[in-house]
Amino acid sequence: MTTIDGTTRCEEIYASPAPSFWGQRPTSLVRDLCARQSVAGLNALDAGCGEGRNAVHLARHGAVVHAVDVSATALTRAVSLFGTVPGVTWEQADVTDRPLADGRYDVVVVYSLTHWLAGAERVRDVMARLRRATAPGGIHLYCAFNDRLPYPHAGDQRPTLLGHQEHLDLYAGWDVTHATDTDLDDVHPGEEPHLHAMTRVVARRPR
Ligand SMILES: C[S@@+](CC[C@H](N)C(=O)[O-])C[C@H]1O[C@@H](n2cnc3c(N)ncnc32)[C@H](O)[C@@H]1O
Repeated sequence: MTTIDGTTRCEEIYASPAPSFWGQRPTSLVRDLCARQSVAGLNALDAGCGEGRNAVHLARHGAVVHAVDVSATALTRAVSLFGTVPGVTWEQADVTDRPLADGRYDVVVVYSLTHWLAGAERVRDVMARLRRATAPGGIHLYCAFNDRLPYPHAGDQRPTLLGHQEHLDLYAGWDVTHATDTDLDDVHPGEEPHLHAMTRVVARRPR
């Protein structure tokens, strides 16, 4: 593999014999949202949903979730892990070119997607698409590795790591209610524990 863009590295990960690589516990921003307010009936997009932990949590709280991943294997694993979950529609698609209706979603989750995209310009393009697809007053829950720490995984991957401020700049003009840059202590099946520098943002599109 010469680039992280595309599916190769994802498919390597999803070949892991463990039933779940990312785990079933949703990320804190998704848990906090569902604890703080009702998401019942809201339209949500999980962009790069992986094995579905965030999509399923939102759906279990009543959201209508469109869960998109470029990897068919990820979606197969999601269904094996969680079974049929009312309210989730799984779709294999590439968020770099999947058409999205303007203003369609009240909640957009982007968790650990951007480093897979081929370069900072691609990240900015994809995020502009996801912002346009968000309803006025809708919110983004955004988590992305940043360049404060080196990418800890060996091999010939070339992840796209923006700086923390570059991630925040994606939300210029939005109401940013949460923005942190913290160390994420991470471990996955078959891997050594490792650290990522992670930007977390909650931002609301102006009405
Ligand atoms: C690190 S995993 C995180 C999965 C999930 N968001 C979670 O929090 O558990 C990133 C996911 O993004 C997906 N992905 C990478 N590039 C993509 C693209 N261009 N379009 C859609 N999904 C993509 C990968 O297949 C992978 O499942």
